[in-house]
Amino acid sequence: MISELSKSNLKNNSTKQSIICAFIECRAKTLELFQDMDEATFCLQAHPDFSPVGWHLGHIAYTESLWILERNAGLPCLFPQYRQLYAADGLPKNQRVKLPTFAETRDYLDTIRDKVLYCIERTDLKQQERLWRFLLQHESQHSETISFVLELIRNQLSSDEKENSWHFAYSSPLFSNPLNEMIQIPAGEFEMGNNSLDALDNEGLAHKVYLDTYSIDRYPVTCKQYRVFMEAGGYKHHQWWSEAGWQWLQTQQVTQPLYWEDNPAWYNHPVWGVSYYEAEAYAKFVGKRLPTEAEWEKAVSWDEASKSRRIYPWGDQIPTIEHCNHNNIHNQTTPVNAYSAGQSAYGLYDTLGNVWEWTASWFDGYQGFEYYPYKGYSQVYFDNEHKVLKGGSWATRPWALRSSFRNWYHPGVRQMFAGFRCAT
Ligand code: AVJ
Ligand code: FE
Repeated sequence: MISELSKSNLKNNSTKQSIICAFIECRAKTLELFQDMDEATFCLQAHPDFSPVGWHLGHIAYTESLWILERNAGLPCLFPQYRQLYAADGLPKNQRVKLPTFAETRDYLDTIRDKVLYCIERTDLKQQERLWRFLLQHESQHSETISFVLELIRNQLSSDEKENSWHFAYSSPLFSNPLNEMIQIPAGEFEMGNNSLDALDNEGLAHKVYLDTYSIDRYPVTCKQYRVFMEAGGYKHHQWWSEAGWQWLQTQQVTQPLYWEDNPAWYNHPVWGVSYYEAEAYAKFVGKRLPTEAEWEKAVSWDEASKSRRIYPWGDQIPTIEHCNHNNIHNQTTPVNAYSAGQSAYGLYDTLGNVWEWTASWFDGYQGFEYYPYKGYSQVYFDNEHKVLKGGSWATRPWALRSSFRNWYHPGVRQMFAGFRCAT
């Protein structure tokens, strides 16, 4: 007979094994991004706000080492020479360009990872599960940042070509577009946030929120829809822009989304590479507005029939290639109506994966917020200067993909893969 105690030991062991597998799987995906990369790209600062991809890679190892080896196992820092370089608060971004080579960085990652797995094997699950799940998501997020820094570099290399591409050759009348559909969400309470062990600090505490009836787009705004705004001189007319948005536009002088390519092949794909301000201006142009984070989350996670919260729009089954475009499966966007299996209970498409979606909400802590594992992870960004983005992109790892996940950026940032949907 198996005792209750050994049953729970077995269960803990299999949870631990699945976390170890996830660590290994996540690392393999991170390293895939570096295949055939030259050292110049590895160290290239594509934009003053973003560190080179090689820095992100080293910072992943640094963070694992800091939390598992030093803080928890009490080991001395194995690579003290990297501390200042890879600590989040170590060097200003523009001084992160003199980096170890890819081979040296690989060696750093592998050495740390060996010891980390050794520690995980020998540490009680209950004591550190939350930390391990945090670190998995930490790597997931830096892995996504690496994806968009690489896209930024590709985009800069082809920008001469792109400037000529905006020639209105595909100008078409405003015919009715089936992707314009909106869904009405009835008034009522839902549960927002997430208290589970794999939730990040900013997702807790879960709490009830009442919302009046509202409507929300069934699909993210497509390139074809956004193109109408561009053709109507959207970037030239003050009337669609908020004061902050117009000011941003004057300093940036942009006339199209960052990764824009005017090609009918992309028309049913979501628009991406837009700032919050562009999303806000488009919404006003079509007589709508951006949803609040609560409106977005209710439409995506709430199951009216069972009065319960779903982890993912489709239910509680972990994301697969059937559900949504994530984890660099396609390495690009997909049409907004491509994933019928990914619909939410209310019928929204494409909420997780494909592109992040701007919301009207400032990033802030929920009632009862407690920072984990350090204040600088979320809390220092509760400053009314960062807008919440929801849903994940085509480069988001499955571990950072869920309805309650919260991302945040300054409203003027457009490098990460962000689009939006509107509400009324
Ligand atoms: C939540 C994606 C904005 O990448 O700056 C990584 C996540 N925090 N390491 C970022 C994060 C610390 C963060 N974002
Ligand atoms: Fe980090």
